[in-house]
Amino acid sequence: MFLKRPFKLGNIVLPSNILCAPLAGCSDIPFRKMTTKYRPGLVYCEMVKMDALVRNIPKTFRYLEFEPSMHPIGGQLCGSKPELAGPCAKIIEELGFDVVDLNCGCPVDKVTKDGSGSGMLKNPELIGEVISNMVAAVKIPVTVKIRIGWDFNQIVAPQITQIAEAAGASAICIHGRTRSQAYKGPANWDYIRDCKQVAKNIQVIANGDIVDAFSAEKVFNHTGCDAVLLARGTMGQPWLIEDIYRHFEERAPLIRTGADYKQAFLEHLEHIVTYQEAHRAVLDLRRVGCWYLKRGHGARELREALNRSRSVDEVRELIAHYPWHQIHFSPSNENTLDSCLI
Ligand SMILES: Cc1cc2nc3c(=O)[nH]c(=O)nc-3n(C[C@H](O)[C@H](O)[C@H](O)COP(=O)(O)O)c2cc1C
Repeated sequence: MFLKRPFKLGNIVLPSNILCAPLAGCSDIPFRKMTTKYRPGLVYCEMVKMDALVRNIPKTFRYLEFEPSMHPIGGQLCGSKPELAGPCAKIIEELGFDVVDLNCGCPVDKVTKDGSGSGMLKNPELIGEVISNMVAAVKIPVTVKIRIGWDFNQIVAPQITQIAEAAGASAICIHGRTRSQAYKGPANWDYIRDCKQVAKNIQVIANGDIVDAFSAEKVFNHTGCDAVLLARGTMGQPWLIEDIYRHFEERAPLIRTGADYKQAFLEHLEHIVTYQEAHRAVLDLRRVGCWYLKRGHGARELREALNRSRSVDEVRELIAHYPWHQIHFSPSNENTLDSCLI
């Protein structure tokens, strides 16, 4: 099996074609510390708005912080103004990112109402214009992340693949859902296959419902894609990257036990404590704890106690004293994707 391979993106070669998605509100430094341990081909930061970036909003720059060990790393821009695209891509490049991506998938009303995010799907030519300006402004590869269309009556992914290629994007990532699906229902990989069929040189990255090594293999075989992008599957399961590598290398799977989940949660906790002030850390821990426990049967009491927790020390105690060996962790499946969404 040669599904895992180095991945050429413009003038750089990523160590693998298994990539980690931008996840607003989730893929912060602590989260990326957990996933990059397993050496994904690339990890993306949370999206930032072009308007906020050019206005030098400090919070926006905080989303773009990273550590040297996180390379290769991508920054993602969200916006629909072609005149901002070049300068913003340049800022991302100057911050030291290896890749800059354009977000054409965010379904949130607040974002789409000015035509950004998945609002861009209604104007494929504009996507081409924005990408061209990004490409002209930087030397790093430019990628674009789209959904298959606004709704099932307007499937535009193959058309946008061609437009993005003509505009000079090195890769297009297709989330196999429409905007109207938001995050519900299955991802439609058939449309990703259609994109791969019309792509000449642009790399095609498949995204949606890749939750374990088997779904990763399936999406490669189904679509012929060049790479895959993992998203919710990595929440509470940072080792998903390693699981996929092992499977593709025909190595025996590692069975993740309660002790593994406990250790990962504790490790994630320490990263959060280093990164956030105390009050915010507790809120993050409740949320992150839910990710680590969502596949666990026999974890209800711990989940409930975490949700009531008021301090980091209390969370540490809860984790330390819970009988993790009694929790049964089921393998990933689609049903766990929806839970614990913020
Ligand atoms: C909480 C959350 C935040 C997300 N934030 C972003 C984002 O900032 N940029 C982006 O392009 N996609 C974002 N996405 C979409 C994911 O990257 C991915 O496309 C989507 O979850 C589908 O993959 P999955 O079915 O494997 O989760 C987000 C998804 C979730 C659930």
